[in-house]
Amino acid sequence: MQDNAALREEIFRLKEERRAIILVHNYQLPEVQDIADLTGDSLELSRAAATMKGDTIVFCGVDFMAETAAILSPHKTVLLPAIDACCPMADMITADELRLVKSRSPGAAVVCYVNTTAEVKAESDICCTSSNAVNVVNALGEDTILFVPDRNLAAYAARFTKKKILPGGGVCIVHDQITPDHVREARLAHPEAELLVHPECRPEVIEFADHVASTSGIIRRVGESPKEEFIIGTEVGILHRLAKEFSEKRCYPLSSSAVCRNMKKTDLVKVRDALLTMSPSITVPEGVAARARRAIERMLALT
Ligand code: 13P
Ligand code: SF4
Repeated sequence: MQDNAALREEIFRLKEERRAIILVHNYQLPEVQDIADLTGDSLELSRAAATMKGDTIVFCGVDFMAETAAILSPHKTVLLPAIDACCPMADMITADELRLVKSRSPGAAVVCYVNTTAEVKAESDICCTSSNAVNVVNALGEDTILFVPDRNLAAYAARFTKKKILPGGGVCIVHDQITPDHVREARLAHPEAELLVHPECRPEVIEFADHVASTSGIIRRVGESPKEEFIIGTEVGILHRLAKEFSEKRCYPLSSSAVCRNMKKTDLVKVRDALLTMSPSITVPEGVAARARRAIERMLALT
């Protein structure tokens, strides 16, 4: 078995040859985060996919993220090293189901979370991520918003708008298993800590939070806050970046079982193999991509 140092060296050499950039989500394994050109949240990674130079994007994340990159950069090769890394929430609404829901609410705007398939994005008026959901909802002219698929993010956005939000029925299975009992236990163990929570958590957890933000928003908050201790209410992969960037602060997981197994499917061997073979690559048929691109670019233009 090759060691990580040798793999990293091979990856960096292949990366030059392929004129590739490596985009890595904040939940990825530490060794994968450490080879990134950019580690970020969904919005930052989408922006980078649309603007960064190079011929190839290696997307270390899950399938909808690589699909979004392929939609925004149709002339680049987008590689998803772990082809089976999916997001269960993205499969909680199909394009057919969305068309049916839309037919029952004519006049409503459709906001889809970026955690959706390209087909669902193509049926939507605009996309959003966890960092801009509230801004997106409030920027729309319509008073009624169909917000799919995450009912927890929809409930969070509903707290900051006068608009009527009709939520989808999906959830992130990783964040939705966090309960107020986890909050009580963590508060008891770390009474001085600030509680930072992702908006994919349930409303009854969000209620206790000192601050609610996307993954990169949580990282920024740890840097800006005068506190020294933090309870982190999101997937545990984020703790690597927090420890690296703020070694003087202490961060504890709100739930140590908040692990997204799909986000852990990418490793250095798969990244190396993807660059070596230029596969698995992700493509989206242009008919669907053109309509999905409108929804994503409208979001990028807004926020
Ligand atoms: P953000 O990194 O955009 O906050 O999203 C979290 C997430 O669950 C991605 O799947
Ligand atoms: Fe999907 Fe949740 Fe995993 Fe993010 S953490 S990829 S929303 S299952």
